[in-house]
Amino acid sequence: MPQKIIIDTDPGQDDAAAIMLALGSPQDVEVLGICAVAGNVPLRLTSRNVRMVCELSGRPDIKVYEGASAPMERPLVTAEHVHGKTGLDGPDLPEPVMTVESQHAVDFIIETLMREPSGTVTLCTLGPLTNIGLALRKAPEIAARVKRLVMMGGGFFEGGNITPAAEFNIYVDPEAARDVLASGIAITMIPLDLTHKLLTLSERVERLRALGTRPAIALAEMLDFFERFDIEKYGSDGGPLHDPAVIAWVIRPDLFSGRECNVEIETTSPLTLGMTVIDWWRVTDRKPNALVLRDGDDAGFFDLLIERVGRL
Ligand code: BDR
Ligand code: CA
Repeated sequence: MPQKIIIDTDPGQDDAAAIMLALGSPQDVEVLGICAVAGNVPLRLTSRNVRMVCELSGRPDIKVYEGASAPMERPLVTAEHVHGKTGLDGPDLPEPVMTVESQHAVDFIIETLMREPSGTVTLCTLGPLTNIGLALRKAPEIAARVKRLVMMGGGFFEGGNITPAAEFNIYVDPEAARDVLASGIAITMIPLDLTHKLLTLSERVERLRALGTRPAIALAEMLDFFERFDIEKYGSDGGPLHDPAVIAWVIRPDLFSGRECNVEIETTSPLTLGMTVIDWWRVTDRKPNALVLRDGDDAGFFDLLIERVGRL
């Protein structure tokens, strides 16, 4: 039986790769809906980009919901310097014809969790945690019904990517991240410490392009654009591919390893706002609240991604 998932996302080329991995894996995951949130670019564009990726993947039937246009307590910070002005710069894709559902993403998340049997729905978050934070504020009873929340966010040994201390998704909405980590939901956290080991080496992007299908070529073009920034920044062959690790962990947890840790979010210091303080070495008696992944089989991860995008 495929696992039921809700994807909450702010595409973003790496978000697009994650959505394509999920849609190419119907035997493993059933996508109940995709929620757009403001993050890499404003909500108007993340919503458009989700629908473009669904259409590119041949899945205009997927239900798409629009969520928060700004973080819970702060103004929005975006990342056009990484993703380009549309958030999905790279390929030349048509504007979507798919429309969004009229229901707000927060209400969709609450209603779905209350309707489906408790412990059967996994939340996969690829952007700031605003929609989930708002859902928890509105209906705290959903926490006990979530099977697990798998998030891309944070960084500890690798530091941050938007400030020296903070990773982008957590930095944009630290209060939402704090509330999610305090909610009691079982969490898998995928920080930069893992994603910086998942590099889009040119050989991998070329293998994707060589599949020759429209979705594969478009994704290769997205990755060409996306990695140029990180190649300059980190001086590596290819850039880290963050968000697809969320879906890959749901499908193939055996590809990754980590440990149960306590994670707290800095929400007040101007210097380290949005820092994920991960008690990796268990030097406090704070209770573990997340499975934090640090290592992965990068070759296996890219094999999985390329194979599944090839099925679209
Ligand atoms: C995260 O930030 C975004 O720019 C990416 O899409 C990813 O979700 C990496 O820090
Ligand atoms: Ca993202």
